[in-house]
Amino acid sequence: MELRAGVVGAGLLGSAHAANLHEHPHVRVAAVCDVRREAAQAVAGPLGAQAYGDIHEMLRAQTLDLVVVATPDALHREPSMAAMEAGVPNIIQEKPLATTVEDALALYEAAEQRGTRFFVNYANRTAPMDIATCYVIRQGLLGEVVYGEARLDDNISVPTRLWGDRSRAWAAGSSTAHFLLSHVVDLLRWYLHPAEVREVYAIKQERVLGYTPDLYEALLLFDSGARMRVKAEWIKHMDELVEFYLAFSGAEGTVIYNKLAAFGARPSWRANLSARLQPEELLAHQRALREAGANLRAIVHQPAPSAVGLATEGESMALALESHDHTLGKSMALQDHFVDAIIEDTLRPSSWKGPGPLPTHRDGLLQSLVVAAIVASADAGRPVALSELA
Ligand SMILES: NC(=O)c1ccc[n+]([C@@H]2O[C@H](COP(=O)([O-])OP(=O)(O)OC[C@H]3O[C@@H](n4cnc5c(N)ncnc54)[C@H](O)[C@@H]3O)[C@@H](O)[C@H]2O)c1
Repeated sequence: MELRAGVVGAGLLGSAHAANLHEHPHVRVAAVCDVRREAAQAVAGPLGAQAYGDIHEMLRAQTLDLVVVATPDALHREPSMAAMEAGVPNIIQEKPLATTVEDALALYEAAEQRGTRFFVNYANRTAPMDIATCYVIRQGLLGEVVYGEARLDDNISVPTRLWGDRSRAWAAGSSTAHFLLSHVVDLLRWYLHPAEVREVYAIKQERVLGYTPDLYEALLLFDSGARMRVKAEWIKHMDELVEFYLAFSGAEGTVIYNKLAAFGARPSWRANLSARLQPEELLAHQRALREAGANLRAIVHQPAPSAVGLATEGESMALALESHDHTLGKSMALQDHFVDAIIEDTLRPSSWKGPGPLPTHRDGLLQSLVVAAIVASADAGRPVALSELA
């Protein structure tokens, strides 16, 4: 079997998509399209693909089984719609699904009506410690999760320099809500499944960049009762490109996840688990997580001396899982699972060992609605219910 693929948007992500597809034994990259035709040519040439400057021209000339859309955040609708309207049966689109409610609904409805298999590249879902976070929460190993926080910040060089001369216009067409919180919202929906966000209360700051908000911070109220605090900045002067920290408090346990540390901390992941867990259950979960790609130490330990001093007699031993192999995984891993899903005709291909099915246009719609509520709440200075939007 050979899937004929076209890639739209030959920038940072599109060129990585094209290179990764080219490596796949069942995919042929037949076409690459970019409004900057020279960018399309630079990616297409080495892969033996045809370059196009216009997606409609590409779709007229080529019969494609798969189109990957990796245009800037606010420009996903036109190419994904054009590919669906041309009858392309499989789409892999970059996150976010869209930056407006109108675009998100249009893409969702078109995929539903046409029966298009539509995946959204929420790439964080393949990181082993994100799989572990999702697993311990969904297995109830923290008890009921009631609170969490996530901050995902980019270096100020992202909105000012990442896309060269195009950086300001690029960042102005997006924001930390669309570019960064889209990842965070998707992870939270995935971890806390089947809970969904019901209401949002957000603020923004606009004092430094001028052409796009400096940051968004929001409280997300889930219908399970969980409250999550999320924040994403574009104004950090730090040595690293990205800082990403998450933590979750359950009624019986806690996860602390330093995913990407900016300074003075090391990447680390630790889950202190429910005291109801037996040591043999701990080992069974460790084995299940190893099969899902997350290598963890199982720990039966005495918590820090200061905490032991406060513990009542007989309660001083605690069970935990801790990462000793902190890798983020292969950068285009989710794309490989999407291709396997197309070939095997399923949302849970045999290669995917993480929790739940792969993320589709439905996840894209729900993520985009939450981010739209964050933007609307910060603009209006009041809480916004998701039911007000769609
Ligand atoms: N999944 C992830 O982890 C991840 C990480 C970074 C970026 N992204 C997403 O990937 C997408 C692309 O980001 P990027 O950094 O590669 O941007 P980029 O600007 O480097 O690339 C986008 C390209 O699309 C082209 N383009 C614009 N409109 C077009 C159109 N109508 N038809 C054809 N080409 C068009 C541009 O000329 C540009 O070359 C964004 O949505 C971004 O949020 C995802």
